[in-house]
Amino acid sequence: MRVCRHVILLFAVCLSDESCSNEACSAKFSEARAKEFWAEIQRQGLQLHIRRKIMAEKAFGGLPARNRTAMVLSDDVFYGRAIMKIPRQALITVETGRNDKLKSEMTRFLFEEMTLQKVFNITSEDYIHLLSLAYTLLAERRDADSVFIEWLNATKNEKVFALELSSRQQQVLVGTTVEGAIQEMAERRDLIWQTAPNLTFFKRRPVSMEEASWALAVIMRHGRVVHPYQDQREVRDPRMYIFPLPELLDVALHPNPGVSIGFQEEIVINGKREEDLVLQIARRDMPKGEEIFLWPGRLSNSEMIARHGFSFRENPVGIGRNVSQPPSWSDKKDSKGRKEYDLYNCSSLEDFELRFNERGFPMRSFVRCYRISWFINNGWYSPALKNRMRELNKWPPPEKYTKSDWLSWTQADAEVNRVILEYCQYMRQRLKETMDANTAEDFRHSKDPTDRVLWHMRSEESRTFKNCIVQAKKIKT
Ligand SMILES: *[C@@H]1O[C@H](CO)[C@@H](O)[C@H](O)[C@H]1NC(C)=O
Ligand SMILES: *[C@@H]1O[C@H](CO)[C@@H](O)[C@H](O)[C@H]1NC(C)=O
Ligand SMILES: *[C@@H]1O[C@H](CO)[C@@H](O)[C@H](O)[C@H]1NC(C)=O
Ligand SMILES: *[C@@H]1O[C@H](CO)[C@@H](O)[C@H](O)[C@H]1NC(C)=O
Ligand SMILES: *[C@@H]1O[C@H](CO)[C@@H](O)[C@H](O)[C@H]1NC(C)=O
Ligand SMILES: *[C@@H]1O[C@H](CO)[C@@H](O)[C@H](O)[C@H]1NC(C)=O
Repeated sequence: MRVCRHVILLFAVCLSDESCSNEACSAKFSEARAKEFWAEIQRQGLQLHIRRKIMAEKAFGGLPARNRTAMVLSDDVFYGRAIMKIPRQALITVETGRNDKLKSEMTRFLFEEMTLQKVFNITSEDYIHLLSLAYTLLAERRDADSVFIEWLNATKNEKVFALELSSRQQQVLVGTTVEGAIQEMAERRDLIWQTAPNLTFFKRRPVSMEEASWALAVIMRHGRVVHPYQDQREVRDPRMYIFPLPELLDVALHPNPGVSIGFQEEIVINGKREEDLVLQIARRDMPKGEEIFLWPGRLSNSEMIARHGFSFRENPVGIGRNVSQPPSWSDKKDSKGRKEYDLYNCSSLEDFELRFNERGFPMRSFVRCYRISWFINNGWYSPALKNRMRELNKWPPPEKYTKSDWLSWTQADAEVNRVILEYCQYMRQRLKETMDANTAEDFRHSKDPTDRVLWHMRSEESRTFKNCIVQAKKIKT
């Protein structure tokens, strides 16, 4: 009877078929409930203009050549039109959670009583959202009648790559830019595991380590950033939602946000109905058959491997992480100093991260933002720099500046190059010190897929920092 409460119509299905044992009956019931749910989602405007296609993929990044399933457009989609329209009710988010008691308790626990802050000393919004999503996801997974059963089944073996490594394999991460990844991921997993019993829903059957690991892996792999409604963009940060649609599991990731299109929330008026949707909008005319992609987040190849076990041929996010926080930086977003940085798109500390491509060149944002911070700190700043964005982004710097402020630019460049060289030398040295000949030999010839991916990552880091040193030494300042 428990399962019959939601949809009156389905009572008939349950009660009329007298031959059905409890189990068969409830299976039939969940099937009917899922059908009903998805029919309603269709009525609310679900549209996915995508279909599967097999594509050949060359060997890369320690992975062999293979045929992969891609998602391509099933129709032409014109500029400004939706590739996907997904009713919010079809997503897993705190707001759409199907267990009202859990939802209200969770809201109190996470957002109102500040328990996390008081008991666990956690203030980061990222963690709070991670937990809210993890609890909601786990409740859904425990519901044998979940309408997302097909997607839950397909994701049931999801794992965080770094947390599955043997101690021998963990050694390969030491000295790399992602040596902290194991601890970072384990902390998040443990937080899910430790805090869950605070909610009555998880008291009787505590969250197991396996469940916590699964929830973390699914959020890392399938959580997608969604930009808020147009009128809320100023006041609300983008949120992570889970898209439990089996079709989306086959959409490949692409690291270039210009290629992989983000999602946004929108209320669409359709006749007299208001549809609360999450959309993926084409930013140019896109022909039928073109592959579509999702964005994995701002992750370097090393960070991709630590989380997901694979990387990209080309990745606009460089390898590195070390932040050179400017002395004048303030944590307050609306402070005067921060507003000045905003003008140059240096709006977060991420823009000050030392990250390099494989040829050894720093990311543009670092060069631009570090120069600006140098001008500010040394009294050379002028609002007129806003008109010199191209020069601010340029690296390596020109041999000679022709404008009257050439001296300050030359000095800023010398400082940028000094910071770069110091970091790359430090990283290269660390990579050398943390690897011995035997381990290198062992991994270089290993046929194990995980070993190969790890070794590829380490080699890419070595090449990157080596090239960075070569480039930095070429610059005469
Ligand atoms: C991919 O599929 C094609 C055609 O079915 C086949 O000839 C080829 O061997 C496959 N490649 C791999 C790496 O499996
Ligand atoms: C809480 O965390 C902050 C930074 O994350 C740390 O500086 C502080 O010492 C911590 N407080 C306690 C009581 O652990
Ligand atoms: C679950 O997934 C497996 C393959 O991973 C499939 O064989 C099985 O039929 C699925 N079960 C359900 C209930 O969808
Ligand atoms: C939450 O759970 C933790 C560990 O399970 C416990 O130490 C803490 O006191 C609990 N907090 C609340 C508010 O129940
Ligand atoms: C700053 O960032 C925004 C949004 O990412 C972009 O549209 C704009 O062109 C950027 N401006 C510069 C000067 O890079
Ligand atoms: C950043 O790099 C410098 C070397 O350039 C190093 O001394 C420092 O410890 C690094 N900081 C972090 C947080 O890794």
